[in-house]
Amino acid sequence: MKIELHNNKVLFNNGSSSKEIHPFWLRERISNEEYFDNNTQQRKFDPTFLKTDISILSVKINNDLLEINFNDGVNFKLEIDKIIQEYSRDDFFIQSIKKEKWKSNFVNIEKYNYTDELFESKTMYDLLIKFYKYGFVIFKNVPTNDNFIVKFANSIGSIRRTNFGEFFNVKSVPKPNDLAYTSLPLAPHTDNPYRNPVPCIQLLHCITNEVSGGFSTLVDGYTVTEDLKNEFKEYYDILTKVKVKFKFIDKDVILEGWSELIKLDENKEFKQVKFSPRLDFVPILEKKELDLYYKARNKISEMYNSDEYRIEFKLTPGDLLMMDNYRLLHGRTEFDTNEGSRFLQGAYIDFDSTEGKLRHLKRKFNF
Ligand SMILES: [Fe+2]
Repeated sequence: MKIELHNNKVLFNNGSSSKEIHPFWLRERISNEEYFDNNTQQRKFDPTFLKTDISILSVKINNDLLEINFNDGVNFKLEIDKIIQEYSRDDFFIQSIKKEKWKSNFVNIEKYNYTDELFESKTMYDLLIKFYKYGFVIFKNVPTNDNFIVKFANSIGSIRRTNFGEFFNVKSVPKPNDLAYTSLPLAPHTDNPYRNPVPCIQLLHCITNEVSGGFSTLVDGYTVTEDLKNEFKEYYDILTKVKVKFKFIDKDVILEGWSELIKLDENKEFKQVKFSPRLDFVPILEKKELDLYYKARNKISEMYNSDEYRIEFKLTPGDLLMMDNYRLLHGRTEFDTNEGSRFLQGAYIDFDSTEGKLRHLKRKFNF
């Protein structure tokens, strides 16, 4: 990849072809002190106030710099490396981390040791890459005192507070407002589909676990979605099309959100799954369409709940599970409160936390 010049045009050559870089694109990147604050990396000017018919009067390459005179009287030097980096979409590196599909035979469940230096370490960089590949990471020996989960969340990014509080305690209580706070088994589900936006990442920290049951379960919604698409296209199509209402009610609040069970992005690729069949309300549709919808929902539920896709493991005190709530479903097996206590603490963070940390570590270690 390189920058070439031709008749006062700046061209980006990607190795196989050359394309002109729009003069305005270059003009926006002016980094002279008068126009750009180096400390914040923010512009001092508003490019939407500039005339869009910017053109280049003269341009030359001087070592690693592009020296440009624009027709509005502005002259400046731009680092060629920076243009190449941006044009090669290096800042898209998180989106380019390829998701790896997994099923019940996924055996690579390692627990990574927590240390005080973890958040600024190369290990954290590697673990975040793993998180984007598999949708979860488990840490061990995370301190269990003083609601440490809050500090943990805020050391990656910022905790996402909800009406459950800054964090929530998962243990059985009398008259709970959610089935999570019982000893009943929880089938695979995604959390809080009724919120807008839905919390991106759940942290679940085991404080005590004295019961023989109460295993944590995970299912890769991405794998299930891809299999459904290949094997039951009609079901996939309707689940990516029909929006259902998810609802949460307690004495203080009524939360509602409409969504497809499988959400696709603008390229019709996997973006998110939502599944919480105790909270969803299917809209009124033609009977024929609902016939298909109910079959499709049963099929995806059967897949989510089958042994083929589910992994099961026990969280022990100090373990902290960090999971992608847009990709994975989670649940737990039943436990007997007479055997002892089972106490987990949960909290949410959003993708800007993990993405921001990952880009920061990439810059720090010059990867
Ligand atoms: Fe949950």
